[in-house]
Amino acid sequence: MLSAKISSLIFFSIFTLHSLSEAISPTNSTEPILYDIYPFIRVYKNGTIQRFIGQDFAPASTDPTAGVHSKDVEFSENHNLSARLYLPKIKSPNPAQKLPLLIYFHGGGFFTESAFSPTYHHHLNSLVAKAKVIAVSVNYRLAPENPLPIAYQDSWLALKWTFSHSKGGKGKDPWLRNYADFGRVYLGGDSAGANIAHQMSIRVGSESPDPDIKLNGMFLNCPFFLGKRAIGNESAYAYAEGLMQKLWVYAYPNSRLGLDDPLVNPGMDPGLKMVGCKRVLVYVAGNDVLRFRGWYYKEKLENSGWDGEVKVVEVEGENHVFNLVNPNSSQAMNMLNMLGYFLNH
Ligand SMILES: *[C@@H]1O[C@H](CO)[C@@H](O)[C@H](O)[C@H]1NC(C)=O
Ligand SMILES: *[C@@H]1O[C@H](CO)[C@@H](O)[C@H](O)[C@H]1NC(C)=O
Ligand SMILES: *[C@@H]1O[C@H](CO)[C@@H](O)[C@H](O)[C@H]1NC(C)=O
Ligand SMILES: *[C@@H]1O[C@H](CO)[C@@H](O)[C@H](O)[C@H]1NC(C)=O
Ligand SMILES: *[C@@H]1O[C@H](CO)[C@@H](O)[C@H](O)[C@H]1NC(C)=O
Repeated sequence: MLSAKISSLIFFSIFTLHSLSEAISPTNSTEPILYDIYPFIRVYKNGTIQRFIGQDFAPASTDPTAGVHSKDVEFSENHNLSARLYLPKIKSPNPAQKLPLLIYFHGGGFFTESAFSPTYHHHLNSLVAKAKVIAVSVNYRLAPENPLPIAYQDSWLALKWTFSHSKGGKGKDPWLRNYADFGRVYLGGDSAGANIAHQMSIRVGSESPDPDIKLNGMFLNCPFFLGKRAIGNESAYAYAEGLMQKLWVYAYPNSRLGLDDPLVNPGMDPGLKMVGCKRVLVYVAGNDVLRFRGWYYKEKLENSGWDGEVKVVEVEGENHVFNLVNPNSSQAMNMLNMLGYFLNH
């Protein structure tokens, strides 16, 4: 049945089609939609792309309540890629007292959102004010215009650019040069961004990057991990799980392993123990289908031979990235406090 439709599915290899679960409904030749992953994205056969979230732009600024400064800085001239940098209010700048550095990867299912959207601008302002860290919020390119693994490649460029400001490096940004403590660097991200953060940590641990990149820890908020075989109670959340699977399959049409690609299923990654930091904090939300993968990640990481400590915090009664959806809720505030502590100890 699928074979008749293959010619119209311009983005996908035959292999990918076979790896789709029944959650992914095929389109027929009179249907104008190529695929629909509402509320993220809808792609028409005529090339039109509709994004439903994360399209707004919040300018860099000085946040009036928190006093956090932000600015946009290009990290790859070749690809015209920028990150938004955040600097907290500093009372008496003492050059000997540098700040922990957070490199953050936004979520949005690899298809939506940006480092410049109001959601992430607000989140980083709050986190930077609370934790008193300097932050680099990475704007990587999105699918489907730029399918995976481009987002990983962009994120790696951002990491290398950031570390070009460590001692002896050629980086020119004065905030990073003057205020970032490259002995206390953390990665963080939510959902797809947490997936990226994890991959970046593996890359740090398994390569000898130049400049020398060292990480202290990483937090993963509702990380986007999947797998062909259902685990835990995932099958009770068929709709949500199907949505997540669609995101991966369409964001990475050339993945040969689909849902068991080690990039999305850490349980299939023979190099899992290469996670390049010693402390990992995972947040999962009690009502989120991804919670099972969050716990599974901990189990697999602990059994991999990795030398570090991973902790999972489960927040009951909440859904996927609850802290971004309701940043003023008490649960979101608790999380902010916890992250502030994590980034300073
Ligand atoms: C094709 O899609 C259209 C629009 O969704 C639908 O009305 C029609 O029944 C479908 N035809 C077949 C053969 O599935
Ligand atoms: C593509 O198709 C959609 C839905 O039919 C339509 O709204 C849109 O205007 C079309 N775009 C182009 C460039 O033809
Ligand atoms: C570079 O990216 C910015 C948005 O970040 C865009 O406004 C600008 O047009 C792009 N420049 C080029 C040459 O593509
Ligand atoms: C599995 O999830 C369903 C739907 O949320 C719930 O009703 C059921 O109690 C869960 N079962 C277990 C064993 O957690
Ligand atoms: C959260 O609280 C701030 C300050 O009280 C307010 O400006 C903002 O609109 C609130 N945000 C939401 C999503 O309710």
